[in-house]
Formats: sequence, C-alpha cells, structure tokens
Amino acid sequence: MPRGLQSIIPLLVLPILLPFSHAWGEDGHRIVCRIAQGRLREEPREVLEELLPDFAHNDLGNVCSWPDRARYWLPWSTALHYVNTPDLICGYDYDRDCRDAAGTGEKGMCVSGAVKNYTDQLLRHRGPPLADGDYNLTQSLLFLSHFMADIHQPLHAGFSSDKGGSTIEVHWFSKKSNLHSVWDEGIIETAKQRFYNNSVEAMIQDIDRNITGVWADQVPAWLGCSSEDTCPDVDAAESVRVACDWAYRNATNGTALGDDYFLTRLPVVYMRLAQAGVRLAFALNNVLWDADED
Ligand SMILES: *[C@@H]1O[C@H](CO)[C@@H](O)[C@H](O)[C@H]1NC(C)=O
Ligand SMILES: *[C@@H]1O[C@H](CO)[C@@H](O)[C@H](O)[C@H]1NC(C)=O
Ligand SMILES: *[C@@H]1O[C@H](CO)[C@@H](O)[C@H](O)[C@H]1NC(C)=O
Ligand SMILES: *[C@@H]1O[C@H](CO)[C@@H](O)[C@H](O)[C@H]1NC(C)=O
Ligand SMILES: *[C@@H]1O[C@H](CO)[C@@H](O)[C@H](O)[C@H]1NC(C)=O
Ligand SMILES: *[C@@H]1O[C@H](CO)[C@@H](O)[C@H](O)[C@H]1NC(C)=O
Repeated sequence: MPRGLQSIIPLLVLPILLPFSHAWGEDGHRIVCRIAQGRLREEPREVLEELLPDFAHNDLGNVCSWPDRARYWLPWSTALHYVNTPDLICGYDYDRDCRDAAGTGEKGMCVSGAVKNYTDQLLRHRGPPLADGDYNLTQSLLFLSHFMADIHQPLHAGFSSDKGGSTIEVHWFSKKSNLHSVWDEGIIETAKQRFYNNSVEAMIQDIDRNITGVWADQVPAWLGCSSEDTCPDVDAAESVRVACDWAYRNATNGTALGDDYFLTRLPVVYMRLAQAGVRLAFALNNVLWDADED
C-alpha cells in the first residue's frame, strides 16, 4: 500500500473505534466559547489572547473542540467529558458519581472534577506574567472552556445504563442516530439549517441578543453560586434534571423523533448554550486576571 495511504487510514478509522462522541459538536462548542469571549473585560481578554495558540487567530471559538481531538493522544482525558448518574434518580452527587466510570474508576475523573481542576490551574497562575508552571496553561484554558460547555449538555450527566443516551437508538428525522448525538449535534444542526441558512454565526448573534434581551432578568440567577469561580456540581445537577424533564421524555429506544421533539427541545438547547457561555465568561474574568491588582 502506498505510504501516504498507510498514514491516512488510521486517522479515518479512529473515530469509528470510539463508539460515542461524548461532546457537543463543533458548533455547540464554538457557540459557547464565542458567547464567553464576547463578555470578557479588557485585561482577562488580553491574557486569554496571549494563551491562545496562533492557529486560533484570537478566537477562542476556533479551538474549543481541541479536547475532542486531544482524546486520541491523551486517552486519560476521555473520562473528563461527562459524568454518569444513576438511572432514574435525576440527581447528581460528586462523591457518589464522579469517577472514571468506563475505565479505572478513579475518583474525581469526570466532567465536574475536570472543571474544578482546570479552574484551579488557571487560578494559581492568575494574570501575567504567564510563567511556566507545572501545567501548560493553554491546555488548561482549552480544557476548561470545553468542559464548561460539556457539563451543560444534559446527557453529559445522563444515566449510566444507557451511557448518557448513547445506546438509545432513534431516528432523527429520516436519519439513524442515537439520543446522545441528537443533543450533541442533531438539534443544533437542524436549527442551523432551518432557521439560520446554515450560518452558525447568525445563530450565535441570536442567542447573544436574547442574553442581553429577553433573558436579561434571569442572567444574575445563572450566576447564583458565584462565590465560587465555577460551580460544576450545580451545573451537572441542572443537566441531569433537564435530561429527565426533556431529553429522555418521549424518546425511548426505537423512537422516530421529528418536529414535535425538535421544536420543544430547541429552546432548552439554546438556554443551556447561553448559560454555559455566560458562566464561562464569569469564570474566565476571575481566573485569568486578579481584579485586586487594578
Ligand atoms: C487535572 O489536570 C491534569 C493536567 O492536565 C491531569 O493530568 C489530571 O488528570 C486532571 N484531573 C482532572 C480530574 O481533571
Ligand atoms: C501547550 O499546548 C498547546 C496546545 O496543545 C501547544 O500548542 C503548545 O506548544 C504547548 N506549550 C508548551 C510550552 O508546551
Ligand atoms: C435499543 O435497541 C437496540 C437494538 O434492538 C439494542 O441493541 C440496544 O441495547 C437498546 N438500547 C437500550 C438502552 O435498551
Ligand atoms: C444563504 O447562504 C448562501 C451561501 O451560504 C447564500 O448564497 C444565500 O444568499 C443565503 N441566503 C439568504 C436568504 O441569506
Ligand atoms: C430568543 O427569544 C425569543 C423570545 O422568547 C424566542 O422566540 C427565540 O427562539 C429565542 N432565540 C434564541 C436563539 O434563543
Ligand atoms: C410526550 O408525549 C405526549 C403524548 O404525545 C405529550 O402529551 C407530552 O406533552 C410529551 N411530553 C414531552 C415532554 O415532550
């Protein structure tokens, strides 16, 4: 076989070997990171721009899916994209639930533990100079930005037995899919095509407009636990509640999902993306810059 092909084939095969995507798709991550970056104060924004790799072109939204690719060479990070909660409990408990469920069982290795971890890493090095510490702070930033989004995807705190909806086979309109993918990508993709002429930029603008418009009264409550920079246990508990109320309802194995499901769940998806973006902005404003230094 030609050398070129040999090196390409493993790249094509890898995604098939990993059965579940376990993350908002590319668009979901871009949306959350754009909403967040647009809400940064000047100094934290400058620190962020210093931390971003060149290929981001100063846009956090361009690199927020990096941890999904990094899973191939940092396999330990796979457990950090989600947390499994006990079937039908519809509640989350850090001590009970947060561990590497599919692997070693190590405690703290879940999306909520990861949000705490990367918040702490950035906080310890807060502000310039961006001295080399124990960690690559660019990676800490990209991990935190990614996991803040994932923890708001309701099925990233879904039930253990169905792996967050991954083993629930459904049709998404005419396509075969699974419930987890419908929430990672299907709902956003259908909305983008149907309402935004395939432009994720237009969708971001619309969500942003609601954050400062119709939702403005609620936004302070989204930051209700803001004595901490991030509140991942609250975010995960909200997610599994939403999973029970919206994601799992009327979506049992073998169901064909269409407009009834799409149109009632889309506002929920918009809201989770908005909350993730606003909360990520709050976190980055605090952990990237020490306001007491002003
Ligand atoms: C914390 O971050 C370090 C560095 O990326 C990593 O080795 C460790 O597994 C992380 N732990 C959690 C719970 O995120
Ligand atoms: C930190 O990680 C980023 C992203 O993987 C990489 O581009 C950069 O070279 C790393 N920096 C150092 C000092 O290793
Ligand atoms: C759904 O049905 C498929 C095929 O019948 C089966 O393989 C899968 O395990 C089922 N999933 C659940 C959650 O029962
Ligand atoms: C939709 O997008 C296409 C290409 O992306 C563009 O040519 C077209 O003018 C757009 N339509 C509207 C109604 O904006
Ligand atoms: C914005 O809010 C309006 C009014 O509630 C709603 O109809 C629309 O779907 C929302 N759009 C987004 C992107 O959240
Ligand atoms: C589930 O389906 C029933 C029957 O069609 C409907 O009355 C109910 O509103 C649906 N619930 C949700 C949360 O979609």
